[in-house]
Amino acid sequence: MNNDKLVSAKILVIDDDINMMDVLSVVLRRYGHIVKTYTEPLSAIEELRKNNYDILIVNYLMTPVKGDKIVEAVREFNKEIYIILMSIHKDLAPSIEVMQQLDIQAYYEKSNRFDNLIMLIQSGIKYIQQISKIKNMNSQLEHYLVDFAKILLQTVGAKDHYTEEHSRRVTLLADVFSKYLKLDEKQISDLQIAAAFHDIGKIGIPDNILLKTTRLTDDEYQVIKTHPVIAANIFSVSDIYKDIYPIMYYHHERYDGNGYPTGIKGKQIPLLARILSICDSFDAIVSKRTYKEGATIEFAISEIQRGSGTQFDPELAPKFIEMVENNMQYIEKIFTDF
Ligand SMILES: [Fe+2]
Ligand SMILES: [Fe+2]
Repeated sequence: MNNDKLVSAKILVIDDDINMMDVLSVVLRRYGHIVKTYTEPLSAIEELRKNNYDILIVNYLMTPVKGDKIVEAVREFNKEIYIILMSIHKDLAPSIEVMQQLDIQAYYEKSNRFDNLIMLIQSGIKYIQQISKIKNMNSQLEHYLVDFAKILLQTVGAKDHYTEEHSRRVTLLADVFSKYLKLDEKQISDLQIAAAFHDIGKIGIPDNILLKTTRLTDDEYQVIKTHPVIAANIFSVSDIYKDIYPIMYYHHERYDGNGYPTGIKGKQIPLLARILSICDSFDAIVSKRTYKEGATIEFAISEIQRGSGTQFDPELAPKFIEMVENNMQYIEKIFTDF
């Protein structure tokens, strides 16, 4: 079904009044809608679970299960369907609060005339079209964000090739680790973006410090340490990134409170920043720099183990090691591909 052209809807009706249902389905079909009727709530719920419907019309006063209980069960697995609750008389309808709580969009008082119901269905169709447009816009926006992200990453790469490659590897590590930890979809995607740009603040570090191949002086190191703040400043310009820039801001904090820029410790450090910190350090140990050889994955594992409870979260560090050991081939590939 193309929602932009939706003029008829797929409707499921639940009512224990068979006569009413017969009339209703004739009327709705005359208006071009696809209708399926049920007198028995459980099989109706089962059908809604299996197949997609645009609109659910449900009678309120039924025995043994009332309409609001049916809606409650449906809302547990379907938040999107447009619901019209009907009743013989408005005095017998549930309160507005209950309707709002169950996200019932419309109420229809039964009568022999169906004009009102047809109008409610038409506004339901408009509602569905609007929701579908918003969803399309959101997914387009997400595509733009990903493209914008790639451009930014290339910009960093033009100045500092190491940071670009390091960020790519940290993103891959964060992706596999967040999935290993079974984080939810939003956390996984927030961490992805934060990992890709965690060092973007290095764009604001003078070249003579950022690209220096010999040991940094204390003063120079202080300048490098401003990069999480710069990154957070860049990403705080838009509300879209409000859950992301704190991850960047805190990615150099340590579990024992000896990190930077703020020195917060333990669980005060946001979870995703604690995860990113492990992935970031792991890559920094394994990867080769102009001033140091890359270490082996085994050595990096022992370093993460050593930092558990001091630099790293003592619950996350062993899980990270477990993840690396269970995905050794993939982890090795990350380091040979870049
Ligand atoms: Fe960093
Ligand atoms: Fe980093």
